[in-house]
Amino acid sequence: MAKTQSEKSLSNRDTAPTIAIYPGTFDPITNGHVDIIKRALRLFDKIVIAIAVNSQKTPLFSIEERIDLIQNCFGPNNHRIEVDTTSGLIVNYAVQKKACAIVRGLRAVSDFDYEFQLALMNRKLERKVETVFLMTGFRWIYISSSIIKDAAKHGGDVGGVVPAHVQAALKLKFNT
Ligand code: COA
Repeated sequence: MAKTQSEKSLSNRDTAPTIAIYPGTFDPITNGHVDIIKRALRLFDKIVIAIAVNSQKTPLFSIEERIDLIQNCFGPNNHRIEVDTTSGLIVNYAVQKKACAIVRGLRAVSDFDYEFQLALMNRKLERKVETVFLMTGFRWIYISSSIIKDAAKHGGDVGGVVPAHVQAALKLKFNT
């Protein structure tokens, strides 16, 4: 008997690794991002961390620096993590990478409106790719890369909200 569509996708899941894209600016990666990535690894076989080149943001760290900072969080040989860059539509990138999902972290209610819009637009553009929201760990609810950069710029101690090597990179950037 011919398989139904859902049976087919279930049998595909038995063989093909499940891949999810985690897109963002990562300027720089924070403990909040690391927390989301680690939890996403429990759901998917592989996470592609996609640094989205966003013309509306002026990043502090270059693309190469951001790639290095991310890779140093997980070890360069971690075969379940890939760090890449993308500049087009994230859903097209997801299809290209054979990903079934886009992972986004939700920090507070204030994130919800924007994330909901983004997820709906992405679904309209490409129905094959689901958006999966993970609730950010309680400790990271109030952090963002901008707030951390601002604190670091003024000599504040950002240990505990970013990995140690990111803290060192911020100190070097701001000469603090
Ligand atoms: N913990 C802590 N901080 C977090 C976080 C978490 N779990 N998740 C997000 N943040 C922070 C980030 O640090 C960032 O802070 P900043 O603004 O101070 O730098 C902020 O939340 C925004 O998060 P980020 O995930 O980097 O999103 P973004 O708005 O920079 O990028 C894209 C969003 C890249 C996913 C989106 O613009 C995109 O998909 N672009 C490609 C084009 C496209 O396909 N558009 C959609 C269809 S029209």
